[in-house]
Amino acid sequence: MAFQNIGIIGAGQMGCGIAHVSSLAGYKVQIYDLDPDRIQAALATINGTLARLVAGEKITDEERNAALSKISGSADVNDLAPMDIVIEAATEDESVKRKIYAHVCPVLKPEALLATNTSSLSITRLASATDRPERFMGIHFMNPVPVMKLVELVRGIATDEPTFRAAKEYVASLDKTVTVSEDFPAFIVNRILLPMINEAIYTLYEGVGSVDAIDTAMKLGANHPMGPLQLADFIGLDTCLSIMQVLYDGLADSKYRPCPLLVKYVEAGWLGRKSGRGFYDYR
Ligand code: CAA
Repeated sequence: MAFQNIGIIGAGQMGCGIAHVSSLAGYKVQIYDLDPDRIQAALATINGTLARLVAGEKITDEERNAALSKISGSADVNDLAPMDIVIEAATEDESVKRKIYAHVCPVLKPEALLATNTSSLSITRLASATDRPERFMGIHFMNPVPVMKLVELVRGIATDEPTFRAAKEYVASLDKTVTVSEDFPAFIVNRILLPMINEAIYTLYEGVGSVDAIDTAMKLGANHPMGPLQLADFIGLDTCLSIMQVLYDGLADSKYRPCPLLVKYVEAGWLGRKSGRGFYDYR
């Protein structure tokens, strides 16, 4: 399958990152979001992340301008019609994703590949909410997308081989490394990473150490680039909770029980960096 046009559903932090790397790789990118203000904010963010590369002499000004000229944003779903690969990067909520597929599928080309950037949900179950389970799969980018080298690929039970090969080719063209995960709750990275973060929150909850002690311990004692509480804020505490909930429900093991402190923070609207407050204060 020859593909040139990448559609992105959702102008959040993952959507911005996927647009950034896809445009630099030469694809035309169409971002779709219901909220025009979010689209404007996303275009400004991508402008900023590309400018950072120019400042660091990683790309030239011309390359930045070429990448920017390839990105459009719109709140009109019909603008996704010419897209070859469409990646849904909406919020980690199954009912929201199902509604999006019902809205978007009728406008897509029959041969278009539809992928989800879900970090935990069943690909097979999400595929069943589309009109193309054989051309549906998981393409899971890591945050921040421009920096992280890994992308997890996940087939649903019905995903066909041409779809898988096209996704693999697309990811390779972004100069990222692929790992393949079976369709289990939270796949590989989050199956391992999120219980570690949840445990760090239990460590705080039980008073074993302060926020600073826990993060310093893991940064200097285990060489992690960020401490687990800082990373939780970076990922978003609502996303962390929803991934833990998927692990707890899907694997039915008490070791995945979300820490009550994580639940309480999310209930308070303390969602980490994006809300201005989490384990740290960003205001
Ligand atoms: N977008 C683009 N580039 C970015 C960026 C962003 N949001 N944040 C940082 N960078 C770039 C910087 O431009 C810089 O590039 P150069 O080296 O070329 O100058 C480089 O990354 C390092 O940035 P900084 O010096 O500003 O900061 P740092 O050294 O502290 O690195 C970090 C920042 C890359 C985020 C690093 O702290 C890190 O790797 N943290 C861990 C991130 C991680 O674990 N991500 C996975 C999350 S889990 C996930 O994504 C799965 C899921 O589904 C939840």
